[in-house]
Amino acid sequence: MRQRAKFGSRFAAIMAMAGSAVGLGNIWRFPYMVGEHGGAAFIIVYVLCCLTVSLPIFFSESLIGKTTRKDTYGAMEQIAPGGKLKPVGFMAILAAFVIVCFYSVVGGWSFNYLIRSLAGSFNGLDMASAREVFASVGSSPVESVSCMLVFLGMTALIVVAGVDKGIGRFSKISMPVLLVMMLLIAFVSLSLPGAGKGVEYLLKPDWSRLDGPAIASALGQSFFSLSLGVGCILTYASYMKEEESVLTAGVWTAVFDTAFALIAGFAIMPAVFAAGIEPAAGPTLVFETLPVIFSKMGVVLPVIFFLAILIAALSSSISMFEVAVAWLVDQKQMRRVTAVLSVFGAAVVLGCACAVAPSVFRACDFVSSNVFMMIGALAFALIVGWKLPREEVLRHLRFPFIYAVIRYVAPVMIVAIAISNLL
Ligand code: PHE
Repeated sequence: MRQRAKFGSRFAAIMAMAGSAVGLGNIWRFPYMVGEHGGAAFIIVYVLCCLTVSLPIFFSESLIGKTTRKDTYGAMEQIAPGGKLKPVGFMAILAAFVIVCFYSVVGGWSFNYLIRSLAGSFNGLDMASAREVFASVGSSPVESVSCMLVFLGMTALIVVAGVDKGIGRFSKISMPVLLVMMLLIAFVSLSLPGAGKGVEYLLKPDWSRLDGPAIASALGQSFFSLSLGVGCILTYASYMKEEESVLTAGVWTAVFDTAFALIAGFAIMPAVFAAGIEPAAGPTLVFETLPVIFSKMGVVLPVIFFLAILIAALSSSISMFEVAVAWLVDQKQMRRVTAVLSVFGAAVVLGCACAVAPSVFRACDFVSSNVFMMIGALAFALIVGWKLPREEVLRHLRFPFIYAVIRYVAPVMIVAIAISNLL
């Protein structure tokens, strides 16, 4: 029997998980959500959501991976021999695959913008031309598809190099570098005249804006941000060394992810306000507003910013890509290279569809984050809370209150967010 791959160190495992967590969600959704939903009040609720719901689900998912030492599908089969849970495993793998396909389109845009900023083509950019550039990047099939392919190719290259030599090594180097780059941008952004308004936007607590939808958004965001429910964390945890703790890995990942989201907020919002522009979210923020602002600060800052986005997107996409690769290697006994090529081939097809048809892109995004992810997270919490032996769970999770949260609180909260997202 082949020896199963492992991360070489605890640092590699934690950086890989943090890499999966830190992604576009932190950069283009979190800062805007904070500002819209009451600043510091929202941050407090977000942290509470992480601590009380998302982190326990993270523990559940990683516990399943670490104890079964299997891919997502194999883990489900091992827990319920006879195949009752197989559909859960299959759906999680499918979800991770669907996410990597539309995520690669955005990854491709980041690559495109990095090249443009390296060429200095954002010099003197105004809002109208920024809109034009983004419209042409997004709507030209050749540009969209070719950049998506480059991004997917980079993802596949890292994954094919192996769990430790590829994913582990990339994460160990890129995560600290990413942190330094974002801190640098935050430093510049905070020193701009008029930046104070952005800080106020992020921090001034406004409890009146903290309504039901705001709380549901906080929960949904903490879920997406910690990459829960689609097998990424499960698969990575299955590569952890025996002596490592899922509690430590989870806490560090959540700390890194939340800190990074906040730093991204301080890198972006003060600059937006200093430029006197209305804050936005999503692609408009990253690909229209920010190029205009950063282009006024020389040629280096836009390069750093788009390189940071590219790295953040890559460190997440490799985790999704690995979910399907692990399944093919473990269950279909494929060689890693063959598995990577197979996933790459399939992803090219759906990725191209996402790149040329915005409706396919939106459908993939909606179904994976509002349906598949929720079902997966619910299933992982229920498995750990109700199916695995209590002693085994407590051996890993140590604190009975975490077990109680996984059994009772997490499932109820997941159903609540799922309903509120679908309404
Ligand atoms: N956590 C990533 C982000 O914040 C997205 C992601 C979701 C990654 C699901 C893997 C799995 O962008």
